[in-house]
Amino acid sequence: MEKNWWKESVVYQIYPRSFKDSNGDGIGDLKGIISKLDYLKGLGVDVIWLSPVYESPNDDNGYDISDYQSIMDEFGTMEDWEGLLDGLHVRGMKLMMDLVVNHTSDEHEWFVESRKSKDNPYRDYYIWRTGKDGNEPNNWTSFFSGSAWQHDDTTDESYLHLFSKKQPDLNWENPVLREEIYSMMKWWLDKGVDGFRMDVINLISKEEGLPSTPGGKKYDWGGDYFMNGPRVHEYLQEMNTEVLSKYDMMTVGECPGASPQDAARYANEEGTELNMIFTFEHMDLDSGPGGKWDVKDWLLADLKQVMTKWQKDLEGRGWNSLYLNNHDQPRMVSRFGNDKEYRIESAKMLATFLHMLQGTPYIYQGEELGMTNVEFDSLKEYNDIEIQNMYREKVTEGGEDHTAIMEAIYRKGRDNARTPMQWDDSEHAGFTTGTPWLKVNPNYKEINAENALKDSASIYYYYRELNLLRKEHEIIVYGTYDLILDDHEQIYAYTRTLGEEKLVILCNFTGENAAFTLPEDLHFESSSLLIGNYENHLVENGKLKPYEARVYKLN
Ligand code: NOJ
Repeated sequence: MEKNWWKESVVYQIYPRSFKDSNGDGIGDLKGIISKLDYLKGLGVDVIWLSPVYESPNDDNGYDISDYQSIMDEFGTMEDWEGLLDGLHVRGMKLMMDLVVNHTSDEHEWFVESRKSKDNPYRDYYIWRTGKDGNEPNNWTSFFSGSAWQHDDTTDESYLHLFSKKQPDLNWENPVLREEIYSMMKWWLDKGVDGFRMDVINLISKEEGLPSTPGGKKYDWGGDYFMNGPRVHEYLQEMNTEVLSKYDMMTVGECPGASPQDAARYANEEGTELNMIFTFEHMDLDSGPGGKWDVKDWLLADLKQVMTKWQKDLEGRGWNSLYLNNHDQPRMVSRFGNDKEYRIESAKMLATFLHMLQGTPYIYQGEELGMTNVEFDSLKEYNDIEIQNMYREKVTEGGEDHTAIMEAIYRKGRDNARTPMQWDDSEHAGFTTGTPWLKVNPNYKEINAENALKDSASIYYYYRELNLLRKEHEIIVYGTYDLILDDHEQIYAYTRTLGEEKLVILCNFTGENAAFTLPEDLHFESSSLLIGNYENHLVENGKLKPYEARVYKLN
């Protein structure tokens, strides 16, 4: 397998709105990030992925871009951005920007032009269709509830928006549009950015004819017609030839609905498309048949099955990205661990579990502090458009039970991850001197960076240790993965192998002690402990404490 810096790196994601406010307007900004660069360097991360900082009306907090080549006023100026890039580079870190090119904002000048008339030169930058018999052009629903089409009176046609109606989808079939995007990408790369995280990049090619789903439903999920669509690999290969291959850079594509087989093409070892993708399969383990908001408990057996499939199916063929949360997902310690009695232990266990897999690990801001989900009393306190639209559709219009939907929001809502970073125990957690755009999690007095930095046993320092180990042991990056103790109901255990070397990773996913017997061929006796999340490393062999994690190197 080829060695690459982006395989050896650890990525840290910043959601700028919630990271650090420098001017008291309640909104995180670039200068705020700059003030925390040493904090990030101290954590030992290599690459920062910055969620969108471009000009935007913020219908979807920056994922609705109105100008790809300027910085949102609330976040600062282009000069600030350059300062951030320099600050990272001086410290030996890299910057990965978010590239959102499945759609723009409806306030982007391309769309402003496009909607003016059917013969406007920008008309074909977007996907316009005529409805039939007073209905939408097809029956697809959007990710954010309701129809994926918006009727526009000016020309009496509708445009496609897979997300909010202020996020019209771009028409990738138009080669002129594709060239515009490539030149915009080169502009950023020439300014010195080191990579792109590509927002829902596997949605850019839609099935020809944009067919309705079969079965005659008025509205239906049309994912089969736009996820991993017919020309997506062609577009990515073209982008690779024209742009990506010309730079020493890193790419990760967000790909809902991609299988390992799809990933083996998107993230192929030959490097003709992207470096890696984000899968969603493990994020769907607690969704019932009704989708994301139909919440059920996830099962360890399913987690093993899904993670093992991705590890084995991509082995030697492509590269995995590793994550358990981000700005769209609940906090991992609340979801997969225990955010009460065993918050610290389980946060460290989950980190161990993830960082020892094969792939590039992603840390989401606050994860290194063990930040948790939040439960606001009223819907008004939530900002996320996905939450607001879903509530309107299900409760206000659909008559579903308020309490049940609030429960689902507590479990799955995106604002769980978006509450401001908890820097210290001062008002608003030291995030802002003003009023934060989204309320701070009330547990900030206990959970905050200042406390973590003072405590050598904190989650923060545990992450630092994991990040250092990655630099010292090639096997953590390049070793192959094998599941062991397959049917164990409490423990997720696996090995990594590189030449003669072997690691054994043991993770107890429960709040109870867990006993185990390792396969005999592992010669456990002569092993050394690389890292573990309990102080007393001499615990009795064959038993893990609640949420205990241990990594052994077999000698
Ligand atoms: C995925 C992003 O991560 C999410 O935050 C956003 O709402 C959608 N794509 C639309 O851009």
